Order: sequence, then structure tokens, then C-alpha cells
Amino acid sequence: MSVATGAPVRRQGPPGLGTLQDLSRPGRRASGFPALDVPEVAIPAEQARRAAAALPEVAERDLVSHFTRLSQLNYGVDTGVYPLGSCSMKYNPKMAEAAAAMPGFARLHPLQPDQTVQGILELLWRLERALCEITGMSRATLQPPAGACGELTGLLIMRRHHMQRGDPRKKIVVPDAAHGTNPASVRLAGYEAMHIPTDERGLVDVPALEKLVDEDVAGLMLTNPNTLGLFERQIERITEIVHGVGGLVYYDGANLNAILGRCRPGDMGFDIVHINTHKTFATPHGGGGPGAGPVGVTEPLVPYLPVPVVERDEGTGGFRLETDRPLSIGRMHGFHGNVGILVRAFAYVFLHGRDGLKEVAECAVLNANYLAELVKGAFPLAYPQARPMHEFVSTAAPLRDRTGIRAMDVAKRVIDLGFHPSTVYFPLVVEEALMIEPTETETKEALDAFAQALLQAAGEAQTEPETLHEAPVTTPVRRLDEARAARHLKLRW
Ligand SMILES: Cc1ncc(COP(=O)(O)O)c(C=O)c1O
Repeated sequence: MSVATGAPVRRQGPPGLGTLQDLSRPGRRASGFPALDVPEVAIPAEQARRAAAALPEVAERDLVSHFTRLSQLNYGVDTGVYPLGSCSMKYNPKMAEAAAAMPGFARLHPLQPDQTVQGILELLWRLERALCEITGMSRATLQPPAGACGELTGLLIMRRHHMQRGDPRKKIVVPDAAHGTNPASVRLAGYEAMHIPTDERGLVDVPALEKLVDEDVAGLMLTNPNTLGLFERQIERITEIVHGVGGLVYYDGANLNAILGRCRPGDMGFDIVHINTHKTFATPHGGGGPGAGPVGVTEPLVPYLPVPVVERDEGTGGFRLETDRPLSIGRMHGFHGNVGILVRAFAYVFLHGRDGLKEVAECAVLNANYLAELVKGAFPLAYPQARPMHEFVSTAAPLRDRTGIRAMDVAKRVIDLGFHPSTVYFPLVVEEALMIEPTETETKEALDAFAQALLQAAGEAQTEPETLHEAPVTTPVRRLDEARAARHLKLRW
């Protein structure tokens, strides 16, 4: 049996202690309240509980060790390489955490009068200006709490634009390799999704797009680099085709980190852009949120942005909230969205500055290409004609044909070797896909170790396939039915 190459993996869970409910003993407490220094007031009977809440009763010591043990079973961005392609799980710099924890930010209340929160309003305004500069847009909203909500926001803006022109349209074009949130957002916004095929180079099939679009097309959604990690070289022609029929072009900013400071979606002809701050600016986004998915738009679409909008009073230099925007699509989230995340994004952008952000993109691309080269013997690129950018899609199909070992087996085996696996089976257009995004933060040594784990798994596929079939063996749970878990959510213990 070969040696593990990554971070230590626990072989089992906390020994038999169970949930906090199992640890509960009547009368144990982890906290207490000081004696009342105001007159006691009885809770009105109709608002009082009829029975005590069934909360676990545990001592602080039990509580802390319970959660600490659970956290040790986890593998997070602080543990090591987290190479999920498309999902981009970047290391979150501690400097940004420290900024967000400053009491002047952390203790604000969203209902405070504008005059008392000038600092945060200025930060949001400056962040908006920076995001517009980075993307080539005119104005932006910081409200959406994730990329997927940014997509919906952008599509509702698109819809409002067409309605205002008295030209409601029905269809949105999305590539067949698109992330699942794209067609889902299309449906939520009341449109019908039409798929455009990927050509043999892994790029949008431009002649097919020319044939597909007509005057019922409200717009096109696209990432660039696309979900195969490849730069759409004909992007200007693509945006021109859609504009030619009166449609708008939406930039899914999931992959913006590959082109930061080098080129801008606005200059490629995009009209609406979302940014996933966790992918581009390294903010936390574990477990689905809270996150931020700011949306930028070109000048003609500014009136439709969600309210409130932070405006600077040129006379006084002060900041105020503007809600009186009759054409606005309304609110996509309470107040300004997840402000703590936006503070982190601000810290990241301004710490790096223009040159630093460009370097982030260059390192992300360099790291992905380095890793792709290391593993391509065992896992060849799915579309080898073009160089990948910040992520690459390899295929385990040749390995499967030789040994019967599939992408999922490889993913499970790298868990035993101490790593979080890459994304598998996405994009759907690639057979046995392994989609790998190392991000810019990993060192050469970390990339070498991850490549070694992948190559070790490929080697074992020939010599000891049962090791891969059985993996993972080092985790508290083995192979879960992930599709069932996603479809039948059971969030209560
Ligand atoms: C290409 C692409 N678009 C959209 C999204 C959705 O972003 P979020 O997870 O912030 O909702 C993702 C998420 O991974 C993505 O990869």
C-alpha cells in the first residue's frame, strides 16, 4: 500500500459520543445570565412557550469539544489544496477576516441613520467603483448574496429592459457546457433556455449560434473563460451576433479570476456581469453561503438596478441611500446584501491593487497549466487544442477503458490520500470529467503533492483496483448517495 501524500485525514469520527442531544443532561449549562438590573416583566401568556424548547443541556466544555472534534473531521480551505473546478474554493486571507471583524464594521446595524454609517457607505461605494473598473461596467449592485442570485438579478434586469422597450422576448441562449445555475436562473426569471453546442475545440459553436438566434432571444449567458477553462477567442463576434438581434449578453463571472486586470467583460461586449466574490476575491462561501454576487451593468441598464443605491453627494462628499428609482427591479436581498463579505472583498481588492490583481490571475493560470502538465499522462485534457486558463478539464475515460476505474473512484481515492477531490462529471459534455482548479494560492510543492496523489490513484487503478473501488476508507462515512442527498434534503437530525 502506498503512502499518503496530503494533509492528515482522520480515520474515524469522535468516539461514540453522538450528537449534542445525546450529550444533554438536565440542568447542565454552557452560559448564564447576570442578575436582572431592570424590573422583571412577565411575558404575555399568548406569547409564552407552552413547553420548554427541546434544546440540549450541555456544559461549555462538552460544547467546545463537540464542535472542535467535528471541525477536525472537516476538510476546508485552511486544510490544504481544495481543487474544486468551477466552484473555486480559494484560501481566505486572514487579513480580510481581520478587517471584517473590526468593531466599526461588525457592530453596525443596518437600520442606523445614514449619517452614523458614513464609513461603511463609503466602503460600499468605493467597492462598487472598483468592481465597475475591473469589469468595464457603469454601475453595480452589491445586494445579491451569491452568484446564482446575481444571475437571477441580471436576468430580471434584462427582462425589465425588454419590457420597457415594449418587446418582451421568451428565450435565453446558454451553452450546453454551462453551469446548472444558468438554465435554472433562466427558468426562474420566466424565460425558456435554448442550448448552444460546444464545438470540437471546446468553444461556443459560432455558426450554430448564428443560426439559433432570432428576435425572440432576450439574451445569451456565457462565462469567459468558459466552463471548460478555455478562453472564447471569438467573444467579440459572439456578443455582436446577439446584439445584432436586439439581445443582451450576460457574463457569468464565475471565471473572472482568470482574466483579472488583463481584459474586461465590458470591453468584450457584455452588458451585464456578475462576480462571485468567493471565486474572484477569496471571500468565504462554504456550505452555500452567506456570499456575495454583485452585478454590474452598462449605462442604459443602470435605472433597473436593485435599490437602495449608495450615492455620493458631490457637494458635501457624504454618502446617502437612494431608493426612489421607479424602474428598479426592486430588492434582491435585505439592505445591502452580506456586508461582512463585501468588507472582505474590499480588503482583498485594495490590498492587491491593480498590479496585484493581475498577478492573481496570472498565478491562477500558471498553477492550472502546471498541474495539467503533471497529470496529463494519466488524465489527458478533454480539449487539448487550446491551453486551459485558471482551471482545466481532464478525462478519466482512457483510464476507465483500460481498468474499469472511473472518475468518481479516483476522486474518492484522493480523499484517502489526504486531499479534497476535484469536481467530477462536470461539465456534462465531457465523459468521466475531472475538473481541476488549483487557484493561485497553492505553492509548487502543494501542486506536486496533489499531482502525485492523482498519479498514484491512476497507478493503483492498474495494480490494485479494489483500493479505488473501496475508497474512501479513512472517513467517518464512506460513499454516500449524493444525488439522493441533494434531492431529499434532511436537515434535521
Ligand atoms: C460557472 C458558474 N456559474 C455560476 C455559479 C453559481 O455561483 P454561486 O455558487 O456563487 O451561486 C457557479 C458556482 O460554482 C459556477 O461555477
